[in-house]
Parts: sequence; structure tokens; C-alpha cells
Amino acid sequence: MDFYIDCNATCPYSPQVKSFLGSDLFWANSSSTHTPGQKTAKMIREVKAYLSETFKLPGHTLLFNSGSTEAINFFADGYLNRPSHQDEYTFLYSAIDHSAIEETIISLKKKYPHKKITSHLLEDLTGSEEFTSPPLLFWTYINNETGKINPLQEALTLKDKYNAFIAVDATQLPGRKKDLALLSELDGYFFSAHKFGGLKGVGFAFLHSSHTSSFPTHIFGSKAQKTFRGGTQNSDGIYSCKLALQDIEHVDFDFLKQQRNEIEEILKTKYGVTQIIHHNLERAVNTTLFVHPSEIAQNFLVTLDMKSIYAGTGAACQSGLNRPSRILQALHFSPEEQRRAIRFSYNPFWRKNEFNELKKCL
Ligand SMILES: Cc1ncc(COP(=O)(O)O)c(C=O)c1O
Repeated sequence: MDFYIDCNATCPYSPQVKSFLGSDLFWANSSSTHTPGQKTAKMIREVKAYLSETFKLPGHTLLFNSGSTEAINFFADGYLNRPSHQDEYTFLYSAIDHSAIEETIISLKKKYPHKKITSHLLEDLTGSEEFTSPPLLFWTYINNETGKINPLQEALTLKDKYNAFIAVDATQLPGRKKDLALLSELDGYFFSAHKFGGLKGVGFAFLHSSHTSSFPTHIFGSKAQKTFRGGTQNSDGIYSCKLALQDIEHVDFDFLKQQRNEIEEILKTKYGVTQIIHHNLERAVNTTLFVHPSEIAQNFLVTLDMKSIYAGTGAACQSGLNRPSRILQALHFSPEEQRRAIRFSYNPFWRKNEFNELKKCL
């Protein structure tokens, strides 16, 4: 038996997505008026309604895209192309956000050398700052490495304090936290299907309807999605979002949490682990980030791999890279501890049998 426990990097296909892949799929062109094309167009409308209802965001516009990295670009570049007082723009984000956020901000500063763009880490704000025009604040709902949940209510407080546009990175929400309802007061949200059992290269973003007319076109071309994003839509990928989320409706989150805690006990007793990051905070039910007491992560991963246990280290999407964890760096762990950091992130679709076998194997 194989144990893939690197689901915060990519989650295996959900049961319904697996069987859908063996079916006829929605390959017909949704812009055509023939019957198969209209069947695809209807499916896309239904998925949109399902997503708006699932995340409780009826007042937001939904946009399909290739996933969270594209959404980060959409929000950041779109923000810089909206009118701003004295052409001044400010980004606020956290040192422990996914690296795509910082990388995008750095690249956009180079892309627009004539705009006055500044950025600040949330960790460095004193609370007394005043910005000449509303900043764009990225808020990570669930951290991909530690699993820490950052309540949306705190983002709302910052929105009021700084008059900020809040774009929430909700990539790691489905399958990690039971309640999927989002706050309608926040401006934007984004997701990647491959993080919760859907296909790769597809995702979606919500944008508060008060901003839809002021947000510029992101990808030019056809008018497939109003004015935001041209190009043919990935209809099979879009359908996989709904199937995977429907499967998540059947996940037992208390059971997942119990399994995670039992595995953490094994790590403590059998491997002498004493550092489980944020063990006392509200965390994703599928995530354990720990520091191995003696071995560097890469060596321990090889030991696990020989037992057919496939875990991760470093930022979720960059698992396998032998470099210190920037999240642990921001949390003030020593460089030596950062090299010994390993992340287990479980498949939400696992049942008792898989967890029991993993515990035996560990
Ligand atoms: C929290 C978070 N945000 C953004 C991303 C980027 O997602 P994608 O690679 O699907 O574009 C990831 C990927 O790991 C992530 O975990």
C-alpha cells in the first residue's frame, strides 16, 4: 500500500473526479449553439451557482482561471491598473504567505517602474500607518505549511482600519476546515482545484460585485468570461471543482483531526519529536509540520519513501527542494531546525483503513 501524505502540495483526485475521468467528459465547445456545446455551457452555469452557494458569496462575481498563482496576478496587476490617488499603490502581505504573493509583487514593481509602489509586511505594521490610497492586502486563510487558520474576522478588522481591498488566499480551505462559508464583506477570494481533489491547472476567484466594473481585463481575447479573461474555458476542470467539493461534503472532519492527533503521538513517542508547529493553535485537520529531532528533512523523507510514505518539506508546491523553510525562518526557527522540518498533509478522502495502515507502517 502507498501513503501519499503531501496533499497540501497536490491532493489526489477525489472519488467522483476519478470516475468522471473515465467518462465522456465535457469536451464540447461551450460557446457553440449546438446541443453538446449548450450542455457544457449549462454545466458551467450550474457549477458557478454551486460554488457561490457553497462559499456563501452570492454578491461576488465568479471567475474561472488556471489556479491561485494566476489569481494572485489577477488581483495584484488589476489593482495597479485601477485609478489611484497620485498614482500611489501599497501592498500588504505576510512573511508566511505563499511565495507566489511576494514574487508577484516584486515582479510587478519591475513591470511598472513609473508607478509609486510600496509594500509592507503585516508583521511590521504598527497600526498607526495611514495610506494615501486604499492598499491591497493579501490574507492567507490557511497556511499551506503549518496549517494555521487565520480567522477572516481579523482580515475584516484590517479592512476597516486601512480601508484596504482584501484578497483572501483560500487555496488550502477545502478539505482542511469543515465550514466553507466566507465573509461577503471581503473583496476577493481564490482557490486551486488540485488542492482539494480536482484537476490541475484550474481554479476560480471571487470578486466583490462592487469592483467588477473597475477591474481591468486580465487576459485579452474572446469574451468568454465577461471582460476579465478571454480564451476557451477548461470545462472538464471546472466540472471537477464541483465533483471534488461534493465529495468533501461527506468528509468527517472530527475523524481526520483524531487521526492527525494520533499520528502526532506516534511522532512523539517513536521518533522523539518535540516540536510540532502551532500544535496548540487552530489548525487544518490534515496538516502536521514538525521538526525532526536529529535528521535533515531530505534524509528522513528518503527513509519514509522506502516505506512507501510520501511526505513533503518546504513550501507546499516546492516540496522536495532541499532548502530551508522560509515559513519557519519567519517564525524564528534556527537554520538548522528549518532543514529538519517535515510536513505531513493527509488526504481528506482517506478512511479508517488507510490511516490504520499508515500508523502501522510509521
Ligand atoms: C496557500 C497557497 N497559495 C497559493 C498557491 C499557488 O497555487 P497554484 O500552484 O495552484 O497556482 C499554493 C500552492 O501550494 C498555496 O498552497
